[in-house]
Amino acid sequence: MAQLHGKKALVTGASRGMGRAIALALACAGAEVLVHYSSSEQAAQAVVAEIAGNGGKAHAILADLRDIQGTFDLSERTRQICSGKLDILVANAGIARPARLEDTTVEDFDDMFSVNVRAPFFLVQQLSPVMNAGSSIILTSSLAVRTTVGELSAYAASKGAISTLVTHLAAELGARDIRVNAVAPGVVANDMSSSFVETQEGREFTLGIQAIKRVATPEDIAGVTVFLAGDDARWITGDVIRADGGSKL
Ligand SMILES: NC(=O)c1ccc[n+]([C@@H]2O[C@H](COP(=O)([O-])OP(=O)(O)OC[C@H]3O[C@@H](n4cnc5c(N)ncnc54)[C@H](OP(=O)(O)O)[C@@H]3O)[C@@H](O)[C@H]2O)c1
Repeated sequence: MAQLHGKKALVTGASRGMGRAIALALACAGAEVLVHYSSSEQAAQAVVAEIAGNGGKAHAILADLRDIQGTFDLSERTRQICSGKLDILVANAGIARPARLEDTTVEDFDDMFSVNVRAPFFLVQQLSPVMNAGSSIILTSSLAVRTTVGELSAYAASKGAISTLVTHLAAELGARDIRVNAVAPGVVANDMSSSFVETQEGREFTLGIQAIKRVATPEDIAGVTVFLAGDDARWITGDVIRADGGSKL
């Protein structure tokens, strides 16, 4: 594990799923963690309590990222709690509303782009000024960017925007030695995907497309994120790391 003692990290969508696992893993590596949530307050407080119980330091922060003001408020609260110095930003919060082309509503399309693209973009805009040399920004892409996995065209487009942003933001922030990368998970067993992977058909599909024959857990993704956050990854920027058990090779 990377050593992150003395580092301060914001993880969005840290109440559940991969964000929760990432927050716990960053804290385990020594970072002080800001646990962002939008509706799962109890779950977020449980993450904070677990970190504190292990001797770490964490804070829960509420913000609805469908609303641009939520992104600005989250940035402001983060600057206050971190006393104007953030080291690690993990923009993990995301929503998927699977639907065929003809069934995708404008509201669902806008919600996905607000949470999955606009929020990470403006979090980087608002928080990179308080990030110093050696800081790391990690966004969340998806296997859906490079291949079809279900009825996810609008969601996949939002994640495609993230993979594009990584290139451009890494170029823009590199002169300040701030790295920008993304992790692209495949199918991971958690709330977002449970209705799919818990069915026999979903499980068979998942194992069928993967080189490694088991369903991923959030912890499989958290380790990659901790690596990208730390100094061992100091020469990696502008990259999207596939963490998908060798899906659709
Ligand atoms: N699961 C997969 O198979 C998979 C595969 C590839 C990529 N991904 C991506 O990985 C990331 C994490 O996915 P996950 O499966 O771990 O998700 P998850 O278990 O469904 O959790 C989603 C997280 O995002 C937060 N969130 C949801 N709506 C929000 C909103 N309007 N404003 C702010 N936060 C909001 C939730 O907070 P509250 O509960 O507090 O509302 C929760 O903490 C997402 O970006 C997702 O697109 C997932």
